[in-house]
Amino acid sequence: MGSEGNKARGWTRRVAGWLAASPAMRPGRRLMEANFQDYHMPLSKVGKVLAGTWLILRDHADGLFPPTFEDQQKAYQGEIDYFASIPGAARERMIADHVVKPFWNSASFGKYAADLTRLMGVFEELGVPADGRLLELGCGCGWMAEFLAIRGHDVTGTTIAPDDVGIGEKRAAALVTRGLPPRLRFRVAPMETVDEAVKDLGPFDATFVFEALHHAYDWRKSIQAAARTLRPGGWLVLANEPNLAHTFISYRVGRLTNTHEIGMSGSALRGEMTAAGLRDIRVFQPRWDNGLTAHWLAGRMR
Ligand SMILES: C[S@@+](CC[C@H](N)C(=O)[O-])C[C@H]1O[C@@H](n2cnc3c(N)ncnc32)[C@H](O)[C@@H]1O
Repeated sequence: MGSEGNKARGWTRRVAGWLAASPAMRPGRRLMEANFQDYHMPLSKVGKVLAGTWLILRDHADGLFPPTFEDQQKAYQGEIDYFASIPGAARERMIADHVVKPFWNSASFGKYAADLTRLMGVFEELGVPADGRLLELGCGCGWMAEFLAIRGHDVTGTTIAPDDVGIGEKRAAALVTRGLPPRLRFRVAPMETVDEAVKDLGPFDATFVFEALHHAYDWRKSIQAAARTLRPGGWLVLANEPNLAHTFISYRVGRLTNTHEIGMSGSALRGEMTAAGLRDIRVFQPRWDNGLTAHWLAGRMR
């Protein structure tokens, strides 16, 4: 940044520091301090806004917001340690929660069921066969991979976190116990280099990522690597990846969990997909980019 930029930032940092210390922001500070002790504490929408706003102001004053991610090993380790690093929640509780994802409550089940239904619809619209070979990036505990394997797909789930793979493998074993063919497997693999980790299994009819690309250390590199996993004519699907406002809305969560919570613009995502050799880019959502609505995008490998 030039000296003009530094000057502007110096000015906004001083104002942010003054606002963060003002009595008006005291409720936000108190909530955030409590949240740093207990990730699961009940917070209303207003409470989240107050706490998140105070944190952004304080961190901007300290030169920490907007976040810059320079250390790849630190970013990877934050994701790997996710279950063990949640304030106020033991690793065992986090694992137990994710063994049953998405059956947490009616609201979360409704949301995830709608997202899965939408993804299945996208595959159908793109002509991905019902028994097509799928690769998931950032699969977490593997709940989506599991349902897609039940649907009939052959699915490989990948994630950076060995704890995730441990849960996913239990889900895969449960399907075999239920008499389904062994068509679900999991691997530890950073998505930035996922093509190398699944070379022996590919190429795939479709590779997808759901609510995880924005966690990557380098989402651009991840799109490039994902494209290399596809057969000619195969599809890359980016499902429910957050828009730019996420950098503000989820900053609090990212700081609590030591993970990347950033938003991406539609034009940057489409540009990277094209640079990766994908054609016929489909924009399912948002029709007109507003910086807020999450992205559902697909592109076909030449
Ligand atoms: C918000 S979770 C979403 C998980 C899953 N898609 C779901 O719906 O449950 C983000 C996932 O991305 C994984 N992740 C983060 N950075 C990654 C990276 N660089 N490469 C591969 N996976 C990564 C995390 O370990 C986690 O499993």
